[in-house]
Amino acid sequence: MFNLILFGPPGSGKGTQSEKLMAKYGLKHLSTGDLLRSEISRQTPLGKEAQNFMDKGLLVPDEVVIGMISSALDDNPDAKGFLFDGFPRTSDQAKALDKLLKLKEAPIAAMLALEVSEEELIKRLLKRGETSGRSDDDNENVIRARIVEYRDKTAVVADYYKQFDKVVMVKGEGTVDEIFERLCTEIDKRA
Ligand code: AP5
Repeated sequence: MFNLILFGPPGSGKGTQSEKLMAKYGLKHLSTGDLLRSEISRQTPLGKEAQNFMDKGLLVPDEVVIGMISSALDDNPDAKGFLFDGFPRTSDQAKALDKLLKLKEAPIAAMLALEVSEEELIKRLLKRGETSGRSDDDNENVIRARIVEYRDKTAVVADYYKQFDKVVMVKGEGTVDEIFERLCTEIDKRA
């Protein structure tokens, strides 16, 4: 089993690149953002709770997202590997993921971390907010709150994986295809 984390701040291109990576490498894409938006659209109790945090640009509590990922892993016993997008986002989430993957004897092969300037992130998200209908994209204050959450709580997750020599920094600016090529080069070195 080959497991990857695609890491980076909001708007760095994780979702865009995940689509292409899962098509090329046959990995199961697990995006906690997508899973949470699906819960919201179905108006489940979990979705209603999560929406309060997401609308403010704040992280949803760890136990909620860890539970979702645990179920998703159990639901896909035949996956040849997972591509984690937007998870883990705190040190506790990273430790929980390690435990879950240890049970499957399938550790993380690499964390690919997309680097994008804050100016470019805000530009991309405001542009998407014009059409996406995502409530956390159409307000610059909420976008900035998401970036602050990333800096305060999520950036340290890269330090966690650095101690195991798993982090690969990848320039996340340029065309979608250029960035995809950079990611594939790094993955192919490790596959
Ligand atoms: P989530 O859905 O994970 O969103 P995010 O991390 O804020 O990231 P985005 O999806 O906005 O950006 P992305 O990096 O995927 O970039 P994308 O490819 O979409 O999380 C949303 C919320 O859910 C969080 O704020 C939190 O509340 C909650 N949540 C989720 N996971 C959680 C967790 N683990 N713990 C706690 N809470 C959690 O691209 C963005 C835009 O840029 C698109 O319009 C795209 O077309 C464009 N773009 C992409 N690449 C390029 C390029 N190369 N050039 C120009 N434009 C580009």
